[in-house]
Amino acid sequence: MTKAIVLTGITTTGTPHLGNYVGAIRPAIAASKDPQFAPFYFLADYHALIKCHEPEKVRQSSLEIAATWLALGLDTSNAVFYRQSDVPEIMELAWMLTCVTSKGLMNRAHAYKASVAENEESGENDPDKGITMGLFSYPILMAADILMFNANKVPVGKDQIQHIEMARDIAGRFNHIYGEHFALPEAVVDEHGATLSGLDGRKMSKSYNNTIPLFEPEKKLRKLINKIKTNSLEPGEPKDPNGCTLFSIYQAFATPNEVALIRQRYAEGIGWGEMKQTLFEHINEQIAPARDRYDALMQAPEHIEAELQAGAKKAREISVPFLAELRKAVGIAKISL
Ligand code: TRP
Repeated sequence: MTKAIVLTGITTTGTPHLGNYVGAIRPAIAASKDPQFAPFYFLADYHALIKCHEPEKVRQSSLEIAATWLALGLDTSNAVFYRQSDVPEIMELAWMLTCVTSKGLMNRAHAYKASVAENEESGENDPDKGITMGLFSYPILMAADILMFNANKVPVGKDQIQHIEMARDIAGRFNHIYGEHFALPEAVVDEHGATLSGLDGRKMSKSYNNTIPLFEPEKKLRKLINKIKTNSLEPGEPKDPNGCTLFSIYQAFATPNEVALIRQRYAEGIGWGEMKQTLFEHINEQIAPARDRYDALMQAPEHIEAELQAGAKKAREISVPFLAELRKAVGIAKISL
């Protein structure tokens, strides 16, 4: 039986937070241990350049993300874990795909449309102000990431579904012109996946600046949890767990039994101070061993680099011969031997 290829990328901007962990990293690491799948996980560092022009930040984020995934026990004997920029065939494929992608398809991309809408709302004369070609055409780079390895399943957040549909369109177009080279990928969206609320109660997201970094030192973690916004009900007053940020985060880290017990405590009027303490202890206990490994890895970047190099080597065993086939298909070839 051939294994389903599961592929996803992580843009290297920012530091992984609890929301990333629960929504994306934890399920991906679980899948890396499942022999049914052939997982491909990569640091999307060329994607980072779309949003971030600060070289040091891009580099630091790559380091932190790689250390996080390894510390959490990513099984690199099953999963191929690599850095996008170490597989230059992806960039070459991106150009081939660019040449079969209609501009109209990119005009419809949500991320681009949102930026145009923002310009229009602010009364700007130029609707494309501040929009780079990177932002405009990044669904094509994403298609290249996916099609390079003929991924079957692509786990993504809801905001990315459109990009997977575009990758299918682009693959279909290429296949139509040059013959069947690409499998058509499918988005996998975890409908039950937890979306965590952040410090201010909105969705935890680096764009809202309300995140709790996953491997914050213990003291900082406690401090941040104490900062989570609550209502002003006193200890002893019954509280509603639904819509409560503390409860939603607890739920993402607890068994159904533990959740039921806490629900009961809400009804009995648990105080916010006590709930924050409970939440801190609960999360801390679960992540402490991985945090120790993370701290050790951050002190040994050469070990992380070696893992990434080994991953790139495995990835290129596929991408190099596949790109040779694709070059031939489109007519990029030597004139004579
Ligand atoms: N653009 C994706 C995001 O912002 C990250 C990404 C890049 C990706 N390439 C990918 C995800 C390929 C899945 C497949 O989340």
